[in-house]
Amino acid sequence: MKPIIAPSVLASDFANLQSEVEMLNKSQADWLHIDIMDGRFVPNISFGFPVMEAIKRHAQKPMDVHLMIVEPELYIEQFRAAGADTITVHFEACTHLHRTLQQIKATGAKAGIALNPHTSVNLLEDVIADADMVCLMSVNPGFGGQKFIQNTYRKTEALKNLIIQQNSQALIEIDGGVNQQNAQALLEKGADVLVAGSFVFSAADPIQTIADLKSIS
Ligand code: DX5
Ligand code: ZN
Repeated sequence: MKPIIAPSVLASDFANLQSEVEMLNKSQADWLHIDIMDGRFVPNISFGFPVMEAIKRHAQKPMDVHLMIVEPELYIEQFRAAGADTITVHFEACTHLHRTLQQIKATGAKAGIALNPHTSVNLLEDVIADADMVCLMSVNPGFGGQKFIQNTYRKTEALKNLIIQQNSQALIEIDGGVNQQNAQALLEKGADVLVAGSFVFSAADPIQTIADLKSIS
């Protein structure tokens, strides 16, 4: 099966956001990955609602919103109103994860759970049936352009097994350091969605780079 490709807008040229989004519209990208960082859950601040709404005005594809923030439950409805189609919260940031997933679904958005590199997929056993997606962080969240963590292959395989065992419909998304070198093996282990930031936006031809990722199966 062909992967879902979700370029991360974090790596785009913010001074030319409209043309970057139009490039993604023309490309084979399936979703736009939107990284929200609060300076508390992660040691970096990205952007918030006004920028997201500006992206939404031009985007012709679903917005996959990755919340790297503490207490995400305080802002779910606002992210939905700003145009999120999928809202992913971090396992490590949610005291009442099951409740937060239901809160996301009540807005009509799809609900995702992100795991930091140190968080075992086994911790999802009792909540995987309620998730539409699990995002495995293949770098420590907070910055684009970091090196892919090799242990992600093993985690992807373990997560795929858990999903099958629990009869869950959750997609597996891989986020961080994804490139042409690791994409194939990730798909073989069971990944469904590939996020790519710097690999796409630092390429000489981002449209071709997206097409190359999309053609891997
Ligand atoms: C990291 C973000 C990622 C990042 C991916 O905190 O969640 O989505 O933008 O960028 P690359 O592909 O450059 O690692
Ligand atoms: Zn992300």
